[in-house]
Order: sequence, then C-alpha cells, then structure tokens
Amino acid sequence: MSPAWREHPGLAKVTPISRRKADHIRVNLEENVQSGLTSGLERFRFEHRALPELDLRRVETGAVFLGRSLDAPLLISSMTGGTQAAHRLNLALAEAAQARRIAMGLGSQRAAIEDPHLAFSFQVRRVAPDILLFANVGAVQLNYRYGVDECQRAVDMAEADALVLHLNALQEALQPEGDVDFSGLLEKIGRVCRALPVPIIAKEVGWGISAADARRLVEAGVSAIDVAGAGGTSWSQVEMHRAKTERQARLAAAFVRWGIPTAEAVVQVRQALPQIPLIASGGLRGGIDLAKCLALGADLGGLAGPFLKAAAVSSAAVAEAIDGLVAELRVTMFACASPDLAGLRQATLLSVP
Ligand SMILES: Cc1cc2nc3c(=O)[nH]c(=O)nc-3n(C[C@H](O)[C@H](O)[C@H](O)COP(=O)(O)O)c2cc1C
Repeated sequence: MSPAWREHPGLAKVTPISRRKADHIRVNLEENVQSGLTSGLERFRFEHRALPELDLRRVETGAVFLGRSLDAPLLISSMTGGTQAAHRLNLALAEAAQARRIAMGLGSQRAAIEDPHLAFSFQVRRVAPDILLFANVGAVQLNYRYGVDECQRAVDMAEADALVLHLNALQEALQPEGDVDFSGLLEKIGRVCRALPVPIIAKEVGWGISAADARRLVEAGVSAIDVAGAGGTSWSQVEMHRAKTERQARLAAAFVRWGIPTAEAVVQVRQALPQIPLIASGGLRGGIDLAKCLALGADLGGLAGPFLKAAAVSSAAVAEAIDGLVAELRVTMFACASPDLAGLRQATLLSVP
C-alpha cells in the first residue's frame, strides 16, 4: 500500500496548523480536559409523570432544523480535520450520523483553506450523502485576511449545508501562537452572512454565548446560535496540557472555572430570541441532559468530547453512543408524558434548590 502522503500529497508537509490539530486530538483523548464548572443541567429535574397516557413505542424523537428533518434532535459537534487521522475520525463520525440520520459539524477548515491538498480530510459526503452537515471556520480569521471567498471555499470543499463561524477568543488568548485581534468582527460576520447562500451559525467552543452577544450576532445576520457553554470540554485545560512553559500553563489553568454554563446560556438566549434556531452544547453527557436542553428551549443538542472518544474506536461505537443517547431521550419523554418534541417543550422542568 502506498504511504498516506502519496495518496494525499498535502500530508507530506507538517504545517503548524496540522500539528496543532493533532495535538488537540491527542490531548482530548488522553488528558482530563473537563471544565471546573458544571453545565448547570443538574440544577433541573423533570417532574415525573406516573400516568403518562402514552405508548413508549409511539414516542417520536424526529426534529427539524434549518428546514431539514432529523431522526433525533442531535448534533455531532464540530471537531476535526486537517490530518489523515482526523480524516478517519470524520469518516467514522459521518458514517454514524448518516446511519442514524442526525446532524454533524466539521472541525475548523483553516488548514485546508491554506493548503487545498488537505481538503480531503473534511470530505465525508462519500459516506454521508445527505446528512445536515456544517462547515467550520474561526470567525477571528476574518481579521487575518479571510473574507467571503475563504468562507465559501470551506462550504464548497465539504459540500456543507451551513457554515459555523466559531468564536474562541479565550482559546486564542491562551495559545502562544493565538490570533488575538477580535476587534471589529461583528461587521465582518455580517458581511459573510449577507454574501453566502447558506445559513451562518455562530458558535462558542465551550464558554457560552450571552443573550446580549447572541442578539448582536442575530442582528448582524446569523441564522442560528450554538451556545457551546461551559461544563464539558474546557479549551483552557486543553491549552494548559499543551503549554510549553510553566507560565503558559499557569495562565491557562486560571480559567478552569470560566464561562457561562450551558443551561444558563440556553435559558438566556431563548428568552432574548424566542424564534432563533438554537443549539445547546457543552457538557451534555446523556439523553436526559439533551431532553433538559430541549425543554429549556434548544432545538438541537450537540456533543463533542464523547463522540471523539467513540470515533477513536469505530464508527459502530459512534452509532452505539447515538443509540444510547436517543434511547435515554425517548424514555425521558415517555416518563414526562411527551409524545414528541413539541410535547417535551411543555414538560414541567423544576429547579432543584
Ligand atoms: C477534539 C475537539 C476539537 C474541537 N475543534 C473545534 C473546532 O475546530 N471548531 C469548533 O467550532 N469547535 C471545536 N470544538 C468544540 C466543540 O465543538 C464543543 O463546542 C465543545 O467541545 C463543548 O462540547 P463537549 O463538552 O461536548 O465536548 C472541538 C472539540 C473537541 C473535543
């Protein structure tokens, strides 16, 4: 068999971006990168219904997001690409997303925008011809020579249905090589929203989006918000594990308890923007968490870390993880007397003192 770099000449060159991507995967798989905060979902519990007046077998988890039908309100959150190993992970994730008819996000496509030979690592349509698929670019790159063309290229190379612009100010601030000029971004995000033919989703990476920031983003033209709140994977912890000096490690470690917990962000954003398509992610770890997010006002729930670990095993392991989440969601809906997701939004969710 020919070596991987012969099949994909882009791999012959190890760029700083592809090295960082490989680092991120390794740290996420091997180290404890859990936030010091919780998602806040544990502060809620559903009122149990002893008399659900439902047949469990008739509970319906089907959802619609950005005009597309899904079998469950579930997203494999944006994670990876840019290396051969990342390509294998993307294929494992995409194959399972296709089999279970859920949505998926790709990781930041900067590596492939800068070196088109790496585009293959984001191309999953061969195994996932009709999933709802999100391309991904760091919004800050709009201050570093990127414009509408680069965003369109990200969408085109992946044949994606929408583009995620991720907002990762704190992560960039904790990287010695980070891109830290976040000034004047909103206007540039607006320009991308007006020019691209696909919806733009604004997303954090694990510290949450406040109601005020969500409102500004929606006024600029974004079509959906993914709060990506605190309580799960912490990118300050990832950067702490990657730090080359004691001083960098200390700076990153100081932010272990930073961010807006996911539950708080979902409640705030839904209250401020009753109609906006809303994704809850950050620290969701089971189908009951997912159900709570939906009852708090989200339209989809996303998980990253747990799906990465499953994808490192196999596509079947990802499908099994999805099945587990959906089974828990269905039983939760049953025990809350909710025949469908509209019913779940009406279920009684109590604050735990
Ligand atoms: C290995 C890994 C890589 C990630 N890369 C990206 C990325 O490129 N773009 C992005 O928007 N978010 C990225 N994220 C953040 C996730 O999409 C998600 O917002 C965050 O991890 C919180 O979800 P979790 O607690 O379920 O992991 C990444 C997460 C992981 C675990």
